[in-house]
Amino acid sequence: MRILLTGSKGQVGSCLRDRLPDSWELIASDSQTLNITDAHNVLNMVKTFEPDVIINAAGYTKVDAAETDIDKAFAINATGTLNLAQAAQSIGARLIHISTEQVFDGHHHVILSENMAPNPLSVYGHSKLAGELLALNAHVDTVIVRTSWVYSEYGSNFVKTMLEKGLETPSLRVVDDQIGCPTYAGDLAEVIIRLTALTHSPRGLLHFAGSQQMSWAEFAQRIFAEAAKIDERYKHVKVEHIATADYQSAARRPEFGILDSRSLQNLLPQPVADTPLARIVEKLIR
Ligand SMILES: NC(=O)c1ccc[n+]([C@@H]2O[C@H](COP(=O)([O-])OP(=O)(O)OC[C@H]3O[C@@H](n4cnc5c(N)ncnc54)[C@H](OP(=O)(O)O)[C@@H]3O)[C@@H](O)[C@H]2O)c1
Repeated sequence: MRILLTGSKGQVGSCLRDRLPDSWELIASDSQTLNITDAHNVLNMVKTFEPDVIINAAGYTKVDAAETDIDKAFAINATGTLNLAQAAQSIGARLIHISTEQVFDGHHHVILSENMAPNPLSVYGHSKLAGELLALNAHVDTVIVRTSWVYSEYGSNFVKTMLEKGLETPSLRVVDDQIGCPTYAGDLAEVIIRLTALTHSPRGLLHFAGSQQMSWAEFAQRIFAEAAKIDERYKHVKVEHIATADYQSAARRPEFGILDSRSLQNLLPQPVADTPLARIVEKLIR
């Protein structure tokens, strides 16, 4: 199996690189070696390496910044995804692309299945939805895995931010009225690898997220509870639960962003279980 991986230095890309089977040939690209917004370069790279599968882990992921950086968010998340889909189509490769629960508004407080209508609240959500639609229209052999609240030992994420801020300040104000499922990027990478290995590959939309529902404030408390087992300075960190209305952020996010992972998990020979949060906290502290 020959894989072209984009965004290989991001959270999901790095976790994929750590886990892809050695027997698979990997062409790992990053924003320097393959800018996915450049259609010509994407097509050249794809025609040169002729991958069986393109995994797109590249993305514009700064949700608040996207509100004013609209062109760039759309160039990467929409046009960049289209470029990969068209290149995949031209050589008959499969495209696996990652999207987000932020294509939904989360107003109805229901668990989100693949057949529910999206309605993004933010520029980021709109740009990701545009990428989904463009890819699905351009190339039939496309799988889109929507996920949520991704964290890992790599890059920037909520767990890392909490661990840093927890040592700087004794009390943190964290939103308690947005509910989601934190997802370890390593578990998502494992799902993508198992999907890639399937002989009859699925097409279209699939959802995958960690199995535990919680608010950001509850997530912060769990992070500090795990951290306190390793470093007692975290024992004293207080999490003040606040409302979204009392927290200034540029982008609106879904109140309830729980993705239903059952369709995807049922496709796999073995479901992917959550890696314990403690393991990632430990990697980040030590
Ligand atoms: N993080 C989350 O909570 C979350 C939740 C749901 C879905 N997702 C989706 O999951 C995917 C991976 O997310 P992640 O958390 O791993 O993101 P990440 O850590 O921000 O990594 C994204 C990678 O994309 C690369 N990139 C940006 N612009 C590019 C371009 N024009 N061409 C090629 N590469 C480019 C970045 O490289 P540079 O750093 O060099 O720019 C970065 O390495 C994204 O599609 C994201 O929308 C993420």
